[in-house]
Amino acid sequence: MKNILLGVSGGIAAYKSANIISKLKKKGYNVRVIMTKNATEIITPLTLETLARDRVVVDMWEKKYNYDVEHISLADWADLILVAPTTLNIIGKIANGIADDMLTTVISASKAPVYFALAMNVNMYENPILIENITKLKKFGYNFIESDEGFLACNVNAKGRLKDEEEIVKIVENHFTKENFLIGKKILITAGPTEERLDPIRFLSNHSTGKMGYAIAKKCVEFGAEVILISGPTNLENQNNIETIRVKSALEMYDECLKHFSKIDIFISTAAVADYRPKVTSDKKIKKSEGNLIIELERNPDILLEMSKLKEHQKLIGFCAESENLIENAMGKLKRKNLDFIVANSVEYFSKDNNKVFIISKDESIKELEEMPKEYLAEFIVKSIVK
Ligand code: PMT
Repeated sequence: MKNILLGVSGGIAAYKSANIISKLKKKGYNVRVIMTKNATEIITPLTLETLARDRVVVDMWEKKYNYDVEHISLADWADLILVAPTTLNIIGKIANGIADDMLTTVISASKAPVYFALAMNVNMYENPILIENITKLKKFGYNFIESDEGFLACNVNAKGRLKDEEEIVKIVENHFTKENFLIGKKILITAGPTEERLDPIRFLSNHSTGKMGYAIAKKCVEFGAEVILISGPTNLENQNNIETIRVKSALEMYDECLKHFSKIDIFISTAAVADYRPKVTSDKKIKKSEGNLIIELERNPDILLEMSKLKEHQKLIGFCAESENLIENAMGKLKRKNLDFIVANSVEYFSKDNNKVFIISKDESIKELEEMPKEYLAEFIVKSIVK
């Protein structure tokens, strides 16, 4: 079984490392632990030693009776180094070649893959120095497990919480099955229908349920990505590891996409966005009167097309739903919207649990997938496109 070296640094989430050790051990991994001095103020080495069933290393200069050079032997022993929680301080040291304690020395001396699971106060998380250090370390191949949003020890609800222990362990497992190919990637996904308001009780919409988009979002997270899901009105529940922003209209969806686009690596547009909205909306219920009612519609922005105009490094993936000439229409959209891929499906799959798609890439190659449940299909789509 694989050897996991767990580094525990001095954030309040250090107590969660006990759960991580226990989960890793249950999966059969060999676990050794290095704590920083600060981490020992939060959780005792004895607790982690008991769970790891091995001596926890803290001090570089501790007297021991085995004459290996410990930082070198630990660095060589590890098949993977996981630092959870990782503080701003650890990132700062590694990014600047500082190795002044056992943990930073072992990381610096090891050729094993390193995963930093970040956890800190939100202002520290947004600190431009940290962001620059992370960018630098990513270039050298270090991996980052982004924090979740939630209630922090500093009494605010914000980003900075250590990712759920179960998910951290899943990322470790995925590493060995080579399934972490989206680690460090930020993905923006739109899903569901939009609602275009006519009056307080009426709107124009469509039958999209969001199932396809939510399934893709879930898969991307499982493969290590950080996902922002911009969802039109659906009955689907938020997942705690996906930042979900609820919107109603196409204009609201467009505004949210604009806010996030520059920070992301991949945009996946599964939403069934209304092309038109009522030109005039009424604050009061529209009363019926004699004769017909004519509603003038005006164009909504084509969100995907607008994002393609802002494209720099981002990859763009569109969906295409048609009642006829599916491939031909999808090819047209792929080119017009300057996409990297388009996933084409028939309109009959709106709101269904299953879907059948064709994946068309920029070079016009077409891959046909079998009909299957959207949750399974999502894996094929993400793997074929993004991998
Ligand atoms: O939500 P489900 O019930 O699971 O159903 C899934 C689905 C059938 C809705 C999904 O698989 C799908 O096909 N989504 C795209 C539907 C659609 O609106 O296709 P389109 O051909 O009209 O649009 C082409 C692309 O442009 C899409 O990526 C769409 O998100 C985008 N678009 C369209 C119009 C607009 N105003 N803004 C956009 O961004």
